[in-house]
Amino acid sequence: MVLERIDTDPALSAPFEWRGFANPRTRRHRWEQDNYLGPTDSLLAVALADDTFIGFVTWRSSWAFGPSGSVDIGILLLPDHRGQGHGTTAHRLLVDYLFATTTIHRIQATTEVDNDAEQRALERAGFTPEGILRGGSFVRGQWRDYAIYGRLRTDQHPNP
Ligand SMILES: CC(C)(COP(=O)(O)OP(=O)(O)OC[C@H]1O[C@@H](n2cnc3c(N)ncnc32)[C@H](O)[C@@H]1OP(=O)(O)O)[C@@H](O)C(=O)NCCC(=O)NCCS
Repeated sequence: MVLERIDTDPALSAPFEWRGFANPRTRRHRWEQDNYLGPTDSLLAVALADDTFIGFVTWRSSWAFGPSGSVDIGILLLPDHRGQGHGTTAHRLLVDYLFATTTIHRIQATTEVDNDAEQRALERAGFTPEGILRGGSFVRGQWRDYAIYGRLRTDQHPNP
């Protein structure tokens, strides 16, 4: 199961997303518990038209003072399937899905400032760059800066 390898095989999430070893059973347990579709955080597989599994997308409620109308999204494609447009398509499909099936009004994503592929994919999916979170997360031995992107329900749909 690829989900179990995420926390044990750095090659899957390198160069930007490897956060160290973690218990691989945690994700399997979650899968068995609710198929990774929960009230506060969820995961969907990204697959090609022939059902080949190529990665996954995630979303979770954003922190808020009051009721949250916002979610944070994430994505990881397997290395062999990157750079072929699938990330852009997956972001677009996830946005369409979330706006169609929930009442949220804002979708946001953060990514390391050097992660050009993710930033381009987000922009191609209609996200707006909103700023830099200085020292936003610890990865590869350093606190690193993160770019934050947002897309509102009322934003214009991106061109195909
Ligand atoms: C980030 C990720 C989702 C992007 O998806 P992808 O399918 O590889 O990207 P796409 O093929 O849709 O390309 C999107 C844009 O990025 C560019 N791009 C793709 N790979 C790139 C790379 N390695 N370096 C710089 N730009 C790149 C493409 O040219 C395209 O830009 P364009 O529209 O101007 O031509 C994917 O590479 C991935 O899963 N990476 C590992 C995990 C990760 O970094 N997740 C994001 C964490 S926040």
